[in-house]
Amino acid sequence: SVAPASWDKPLAGKVAVVTGAARGIGATIAEVFARDGATVIVADIPAAGEALSETANKVGGTALALDVTAPDAAERLAEFATERFGGIDIVVHNAGITRDKLLANMDEGRWNSVINVNLAAPHRITTGLVAKGVLKEGGRVIDVSSIAGIAGNRGQTNYGASKAGVIGMVDAEAPLLSEKGITINAVAPGFIETAMTAAIPLGTREAGRLMSSLLQGGQTVDVAETIAYFASPASNAVSGNVVRVCGQSLI
Ligand code: NAI
Repeated sequence: SVAPASWDKPLAGKVAVVTGAARGIGATIAEVFARDGATVIVADIPAAGEALSETANKVGGTALALDVTAPDAAERLAEFATERFGGIDIVVHNAGITRDKLLANMDEGRWNSVINVNLAAPHRITTGLVAKGVLKEGGRVIDVSSIAGIAGNRGQTNYGASKAGVIGMVDAEAPLLSEKGITINAVAPGFIETAMTAAIPLGTREAGRLMSSLLQGGQTVDVAETIAYFASPASNAVSGNVVRVCGQSLI
């Protein structure tokens, strides 16, 4: 049946985990989830320190120092969420890094670290949580890809490959997860104004902004609201999709 218009807390009673939530897009996802009534676990690397507790306080959530690449990341998250909240309904794999270099200088260290954080960790954590039955029936997995995973980007062989991999992973995992009543979808943001993009050299940054027909960088809330849709009951029948969040993309 159609939800009543006054239904303004679509995530009430849901437990949501957002990785990389100390700042940037992740912090805004946590904020939007809290607005929508979810109990939010904000996770980030131990080095995020104060920024993580600040986000947790802002959203009335719980902070968890967690490096998503740790071999026991799924176990630790499962234990933490089960002890405190009895399980998890929504996981957002938002933690991500760039280690840009033009192809000739794309060493194995840069390649491996980006693939590990952006692609291998979300896979390991999703499968770990599902295997333990911690991700509940009706659960949601939302991965953060990138327009760079669709169109590629100079100097980002590692990053583009990791984000394209995320799209393939979502496609492959969707039918398996649907057997357990869990959906999985991805967002592919264009250029969003965060610390990650502020670190890009000026010329490349301007070019990134121009790839959006809005001719300006998007805001973290643009991505967070799309993710909120994938988390909400409104998207019950939506799985295995990738949504670009970059205005009317020219790509
Ligand atoms: P950001 O650099 O501002 O924030 C990323 C957060 O992830 C940081 O708090 C960082 O500490 C955390 N993180 C990094 N490695 C981690 C690890 N191993 N374990 C746990 N946390 C870790 O980046 P931003 O811009 O907010 O990006 C968020 C996501 O959106 C990333 O996956 C990024 O690739 C993706 N994205 C960003 C775009 C942009 O234009 N800003 C465009 C497309 C995708």
